Amino acid sequence: MSHLRLSRIGFTLLALAACGGADADTSPVNESQTPTAPSPPPVAAPPANAFPDVTAFLTLDLNALPNFSAPVYPVHYDAAAIARDNSGANPVTDAGAALGSVLFHDRQLSINGRVSCASCHQQADGFTDRARFSVGFDGERRTDVHSMRLANSRFQSDPGFFWDRRATTLELLSTEPIRNSIEMGFDSSVGGIDSLVRRMRTLPYYPELFRVVFGDTEITEARMQRALAQYLRSIVSTRSRWDDGYARVYSLTAPNRGLNVNVPGLSAQENRGRQLYFDPPQQGGAGCAGCHAAPTFALAAGVRGNGLDAGEQRAFKSPSLKNVSVRGPYMHDGRLATLDAVVEHYNSGIRGGPALDQRLRGANGQPLRLNLSVEDKAALVAFLHTLTDTELLSDPKFGNPFRR
Ligand code: HEC
Ligand code: HEC
Repeated sequence: MSHLRLSRIGFTLLALAACGGADADTSPVNESQTPTAPSPPPVAAPPANAFPDVTAFLTLDLNALPNFSAPVYPVHYDAAAIARDNSGANPVTDAGAALGSVLFHDRQLSINGRVSCASCHQQADGFTDRARFSVGFDGERRTDVHSMRLANSRFQSDPGFFWDRRATTLELLSTEPIRNSIEMGFDSSVGGIDSLVRRMRTLPYYPELFRVVFGDTEITEARMQRALAQYLRSIVSTRSRWDDGYARVYSLTAPNRGLNVNVPGLSAQENRGRQLYFDPPQQGGAGCAGCHAAPTFALAAGVRGNGLDAGEQRAFKSPSLKNVSVRGPYMHDGRLATLDAVVEHYNSGIRGGPALDQRLRGANGQPLRLNLSVEDKAALVAFLHTLTDTELLSDPKFGNPFRR
């Protein structure tokens, strides 16, 4: 972009010189044109704004992009944890994720300009929605399932996004909400994504942004998907009271990498909850870690259902439990309002059915009953509260980049 502007200025100078008369020097070197005039003192030119259309609308500085591409992983995000990264052929770049953040916060991506992705995925709420069912673009109709927390989706090793796992990659998922007739409204009746692309071409900041990321100004759904997925994968949670303490006792060679020893900085109650979380039921624990795996707390591979309904055939997924205490309600239909209710579900409410995971069955295949004491249930909830990553919830890098 900057060289384009410079060459435009160069062209103007040449044109002026040509107008000056037959003796005008048309060579691009024009310092000696008025040899008798005293040369003005050198004044530093104001820094050229190479991206005027972007800076007019966005606080994003394309010359100094935030670091999206290289998160600083703590020691317990070891090779085995990071290997679960599902970026594949679309690695996170600073520019790509920055474009993704603009798309994520842009209300113009909904048919009537009222909602953005961020409307239902609020950073301060752990990238989910306070409402049990989210209000769509028309301000009335609501989604039929609860919105999902977005942190650490990068580390989900089992393909399958959305509660019912129908999206196989974050790329394919990322433009579904735009096409959805309730959420953002660019469905086939209004021409789908093509009609959004026509709108985006008229928004001054997009051609520049797409050029910076992809080398030319062409806007396509595939490019939007790449940028949105990069932004989603950049939302990594590596800090919480549990992370900061566990990093001090983590060891690659310790049994279970030190997950079963007391974590410094946690209270006795929180550490009791931690023990229940990580120990399997056969050892007196609650076995949560068998499915919501540390250190990312994303769902492990091969997990089936958690027994919410008797006879359930579908195996829903869960987003990472990082920031789970920030906001309920919980489960795909938001049926459980509090973490106490969640723990009580696992303690006494598991229902049998074809989709019920083996880990939640007793020795006879029946739904597991944990029979936890009142104190242990409270301890488990206290432990879930230690997974809150306040740094992520307020990091300006993930905030709204629009000026308006
Ligand atoms: C009107 C509310 C709403 C809007 C707008 C919205 N979402 Fe969502 N989001 C949801 C709901 C509800 C779910 C769960 C949907 C389901 O499972 O069928 C969800 C699920 C997701 C997931 C799945 C997470 C996982 O771990 O499986 C991702 C990622 C996501 N949304 C990203 C986005 C992006 C990107 C946008 C904008 C292009 C967006 N959302 C716009 C409500 C919304
Ligand atoms: C067999 C695997 C499995 C085990 C073991 C398990 N869960 Fe889950 N968990 C799931 C699945 C699958 C879901 C999503 C269910 C749904 O919404 O339909 C889920 C959902 C959740 C949610 C809701 C997440 C959200 O964003 O709404 C919480 C909280 C939770 N589990 C906590 C726990 C705790 C605490 C334990 C231990 C007592 C535990 N889980 C044990 C599989 C498991």
